Amino acid sequence: MPTTESLGVRTMPKVEASYPVNKHKKLQDWVSEAAALCQPDRIYWCDGSEEEYNRLCDEMVESGTLIKLNPKKRPGSFLARSAPSDVARVEDRTFVCTTLKEDCGPNNNWMEPETAKIILKDFFKNCMRGRTMYVIPFSMGPLGSPLSQIGVEITDSPYVAVSMKLMTRMGKKVVELLGTDGDFVPCFHSVGHPLSPGEKDVAWPCDAEHKYICHFPETKEIWSYGSGYGGNALLGKKCLALRIASTMGKEEGWLAEHMLILGVKNPEGKKSYVAAAFPSACGKTNFAMIIPPKNFGGWEVSTVGDDIAWIRPGEDGKLRAINPEAGYFGVAPGTSAKTNPNALATLSKNCLFTNVALTPDGDVWWEGLTDEPPAELIDWQGRKWTPDCGRKAAHPNSRFTVSATQCPSLDPEWDNPEGVPISAFVFGGRRASVVPLAFESFNWNYGVYMAATLGSETTAAAAGKVGEVRRDPMAMLPFCGYHMGDYFSHWLKMGHMVKNPPRIFCVNWFRADANGKIIWPGFGENMRVLKWISDRVSGLAGAEQTVLGWMPRYEDLDWTGLESVTRSQFESLMHVDTQLWQAELEAHDELFNKLSERMPRELLITREMMQLSLGRL
Ligand code: GTP
Ligand code: SPV
Ligand code: MN
Repeated sequence: MPTTESLGVRTMPKVEASYPVNKHKKLQDWVSEAAALCQPDRIYWCDGSEEEYNRLCDEMVESGTLIKLNPKKRPGSFLARSAPSDVARVEDRTFVCTTLKEDCGPNNNWMEPETAKIILKDFFKNCMRGRTMYVIPFSMGPLGSPLSQIGVEITDSPYVAVSMKLMTRMGKKVVELLGTDGDFVPCFHSVGHPLSPGEKDVAWPCDAEHKYICHFPETKEIWSYGSGYGGNALLGKKCLALRIASTMGKEEGWLAEHMLILGVKNPEGKKSYVAAAFPSACGKTNFAMIIPPKNFGGWEVSTVGDDIAWIRPGEDGKLRAINPEAGYFGVAPGTSAKTNPNALATLSKNCLFTNVALTPDGDVWWEGLTDEPPAELIDWQGRKWTPDCGRKAAHPNSRFTVSATQCPSLDPEWDNPEGVPISAFVFGGRRASVVPLAFESFNWNYGVYMAATLGSETTAAAAGKVGEVRRDPMAMLPFCGYHMGDYFSHWLKMGHMVKNPPRIFCVNWFRADANGKIIWPGFGENMRVLKWISDRVSGLAGAEQTVLGWMPRYEDLDWTGLESVTRSQFESLMHVDTQLWQAELEAHDELFNKLSERMPRELLITREMMQLSLGRL
């Protein structure tokens, strides 16, 4: 007797939900359509409870996706090891699907929306067979804030479900907030690894060959297929909160940026907020959680966010920002009690680690955690590891996922639905040469120029070559959902929409000497630059005018307690080499040429003026 299944006819899978989920017709219809297409065994609506989180983690321990860490060393924490083919964002498989190719710009890979849907539907067809389809309602930003956005992610990955619990406000309360007709961004995800009846699952299912991370800015939808890792799969983060939100921001008059937000309080008790954009794996988490050096009496830094900022003109004539996330998905390697003690404290419990190494006593390790590596480990691929084996123990893009509420430096205003007022923007790349430690732009338009021409060496955060300098405007090259030229115009406009636009600064922690050694001690010592920035905003710090902008002189920085940087090293850190800057301007020109159809005139003129001033030196 042929079963209905063998005839290709399937009934709707069983739906499990611990709360009413059938009030919102559009949401219901979308979930039903997704199930009809993907054919999961079961549909499960996440409620966002602790009980659910623990249950899903236990199930993943059972299935081999997670390893429970030693509860004495790392309570409530787990390790996941991904497939070696699925370790970072895949920029060459990331698409922006606009009707007109010109609208997505040369900064994005393009697919025509209808063609993309046909291809995607083919991949999504039956792709959840043998699996549970999780429905994950989430809010980016405080629940109900006028600055927030709601998304619903459909996924077949329980790893994504628990990550979304840590990274966003997730579950039942979001569905309640949606009511019968609230707006949400559909975020459709599959790891792309269906199971035939009786087939045993693998620890990290994904599609090793086909990946598509597709955005539909015109209809505000996301479809992601084939990867279970990070920004490819946690769709609230880069896909919604940056690529789709940047488009919303352009339409509605706000900004979605790849920025940390921190609060800085001076000894007089005056507090201001700074938002800083550094490209992926270039120090946002570290800067967001900075602890001032000893002898830096009275200065305090607090953390609002470590990766994304949504910024809007406020009624007070200032730009106000929220962190749309509720957790950190941070780079593990290089994080230590010396470099980032606040992060280390945040990770002490209830943490999900991915692709780090496992110690014999059931704890985690990564390069840079301790000066001396342990004598033996299990590496990120589950192989035996010793210090002399010639391999890295943790993947360079290994990460931790953890709730922001565990961060000791969490700012009291981090959850404020009105956001915090921003006094300064900081832009920084990873540059071994050319770019000085710190300088301040002359004005808004010039600051936008410096940000738009930001260069940085590529890192392990994206698949591909590491260490090549590329232009990464505003650290948004992989994340701007529309034409970069239009984005520059939007930035120029935003500064003029408020009475008091933030001051704009540029920094570079990564300048190296002739032997390739990074000169600046970085990490907590970056406080010296942050203090200068904060004092510049309050009118308390000096600077000299140069061709690049206002630069701190040696005596403008506070050197108390820092002997390791000599005056001559400071000169090297600040040196402006005219020839290298001429070449830098050529690189700016290359970027502007690529974007020429939509380049705002203001920035072209600024480049001409810089060329003239450099020529005079
Ligand atoms: P994404 O999460 O990918 O967007 O990156 P992020 O900008 O938050 O990067 P993160 O703060 O996690 O830093 C990544 C790497 O930069 C780590 O290996 C750090 O050790 C290194 N790093 C951070 N701050 C400094 C610094 O001040 N100096 C130096 N030399 N390295 C730094
Ligand atoms: C980045 O690459 O900038 C990240 C990590 O913050 S991911 O979420 O994977 O994009
Ligand atoms: Mn990031």
